[in-house]
Amino acid sequence: MSEPRDTSSISFTALYTGHVWAKDGLSAPFFRTRGGAFLYGALAPFEYVGRKIAGGNIRTFLLQRHLLIDHRLHQLIDDGVTQVVEIACGLSPRGHRFCQQYPQLTYIETDLPDMAQRKQQLLTEHHVLSERHKVMPINIFADDGDLSLAHVLGQLDTSKPVVVITEGLVNYFPLAVISEFWRKLATALQHFPQGTYLTDNYPLYHGMPFYHTLKNLGRLLGAISRSQVGFHFHSDEQTVSHFLQQGFDDLTVHNPADFYNQLPIPQTRGNPMVRILEGVVSA
Ligand SMILES: C[S@@+](CC[C@H](N)C(=O)[O-])C[C@H]1O[C@@H](n2cnc3c(N)ncnc32)[C@H](O)[C@@H]1O
Repeated sequence: MSEPRDTSSISFTALYTGHVWAKDGLSAPFFRTRGGAFLYGALAPFEYVGRKIAGGNIRTFLLQRHLLIDHRLHQLIDDGVTQVVEIACGLSPRGHRFCQQYPQLTYIETDLPDMAQRKQQLLTEHHVLSERHKVMPINIFADDGDLSLAHVLGQLDTSKPVVVITEGLVNYFPLAVISEFWRKLATALQHFPQGTYLTDNYPLYHGMPFYHTLKNLGRLLGAISRSQVGFHFHSDEQTVSHFLQQGFDDLTVHNPADFYNQLPIPQTRGNPMVRILEGVVSA
């Protein structure tokens, strides 16, 4: 197992998720990659079995999390947010889609240097980057310098609110390790009149259907991505209290099942595996 802060071995998973977004019509066609198509094809039989037997599969929770983050971001923009930083953006099409829809938006996409360079090249080739839509390198564990969170947030207007997103990142780390980042983020967001953090998180609630399957899935993903995949919380209360301890003023746990009637998201047979956490820090 690698040192938990050396995380470049995780990057290939962005090819898979990138292909899911493209396949489901959430991306412009130029986001498709050969690596993503290969991984998508390789997992297809497992996905089929998962859907039939468990009533949900990886694609189900990926789409639940992506569409629910989109939904909350639309609402926050309707409420006046004009600045977004998406960390660990991978090949997510969100920045492109939102910048097309909202001309008032400043959107910074960030990832580890190699992935950021790949994204930058992709978006440059398709002429979609601009002064208000940029790609920058980051490492969530860098405390200072060009790869630090402070450097990325330093590009923004601190007199206006900001939304920071991480999608598909936090469960690759044990709780103690990712909490270092959450504390740094909560402190940095204090420089803005309001800072909102949106992230997906996979809890492991006792009594959840497929409790053991989830644990095994986590172990498998940890092994192939050479990371320390972890389930951080056993209840919503524990999640909320943990985020308040890291310096957030408030935290809401969104369950995709509560949005089945409002959003075109796939439904899981039982309790969904993913939650969207929305943390708030006010100046
Ligand atoms: C599962 S992918 C998710 C990509 C994208 N958010 C999506 O949902 O399609 C995980 C991403 O985390 C990025 N990543 C891994 N370690 C990181 C770190 N220390 N700092 C920033 N990004 C990191 C990887 O490069 C990869 O793009």
